[in-house]
Amino acid sequence: MADGKKLRDIAWKDFKALPLTEKGTYFQGTPPHTLIAQQFTRKQLEELCTLATRIKRINKRRAGANFLKGLLSDKRAMLYFAQPSSRTYLSHNAACQILGLDTMDVRDTKTSSEVKGESPEDTIRTFSSYADMIIMRHPKGGFAERVAWMLAHTGREIPVLNAGSGSDQHPTQALLDIYTLERSFEDIGGVDGKHVAFVGDLLRGRTVRSLAWMLTLYKDVTLHFVAPEALQIGQDILDLLDEAGTKYEVTQDFASVMPVADAIYMTRIQDEWDEEGESSTESSDYHIGAEHLDIIKDTCAILHPLPRRKEISTDIDNDPRAVYWRQMRNGMWIRAALILQSFGRDDEVNKYYDDY
Ligand code: ASP
Ligand code: CP
Repeated sequence: MADGKKLRDIAWKDFKALPLTEKGTYFQGTPPHTLIAQQFTRKQLEELCTLATRIKRINKRRAGANFLKGLLSDKRAMLYFAQPSSRTYLSHNAACQILGLDTMDVRDTKTSSEVKGESPEDTIRTFSSYADMIIMRHPKGGFAERVAWMLAHTGREIPVLNAGSGSDQHPTQALLDIYTLERSFEDIGGVDGKHVAFVGDLLRGRTVRSLAWMLTLYKDVTLHFVAPEALQIGQDILDLLDEAGTKYEVTQDFASVMPVADAIYMTRIQDEWDEEGESSTESSDYHIGAEHLDIIKDTCAILHPLPRRKEISTDIDNDPRAVYWRQMRNGMWIRAALILQSFGRDDEVNKYYDDY
């Protein structure tokens, strides 16, 4: 384990107070957890992207698909989704199927004994009695970290994958976004040196918060945060960018960013988190449609974590620069890579691929 740090050796209140990058060093041991974007290194991102592509290629042939299905057929994953989800739930489920894991789920907390007053901690501890991995989405920021810490203190520590927590983190989404960017820029020098624009609700968009940090691992990238003032990116993220020496611009002017962006990452207004009517500042200025296709670069990649509302017109869905549907499918491959790595079985795929 990095620095020999173990969750079981630290009190919750001390752990909670750690800076994110230091917290990350606690998640990479045995078993590894995937909880925050800040736990990743560039090398790990590259390894995961390579592994995802290998899994995808191997899976194309029946013999390869059968090989993959045998890899984790002795394991079970629990999908605990206490918040709505389409893609993250389905792509994790599909990733499990590719690798042969059986899955169980709770998607509606009204059907779990939480309604009888059981604490979320006890609920998760119950899941860990039956499963070898927990993939979880929860409305409470930081709860997935608490779960990993709590399991480390029960003697049944199993990998925990954060599939979206509160409005703070969505690390597996950031991984699939990185994979999509890597693939989009494969022939034009990779992600280094690119201008990435984030547009929409950057305050509550957990995908943006996780991805913005991951991009600090690339050389000379410039981030453009484009949003109405009330929905701008949090100062905590800007502080992390400053610390990492990553260049950025905070602006309300989408028109000036469009022509320079190599990637445009659109997001929806997250009105489920409204406290003071923040969403009322939503404006049609933060929209992309057919009228913008001549303004953006020919090589620009348009991403969106989805679901979308009106921020992207459906008329541009078939433009080759609109990569959001591909991005969504990439989620299945990168999550398969991540699950495989969490069980330390990636070498078998790499070996199979070399002999392929
Ligand atoms: N699906 C993403 C998330 O759960 C983005 C969104 O919901 O707008 O964070
Ligand atoms: N991108 C994303 O997390 O989608 P879902 O909310 O549908 O899972």
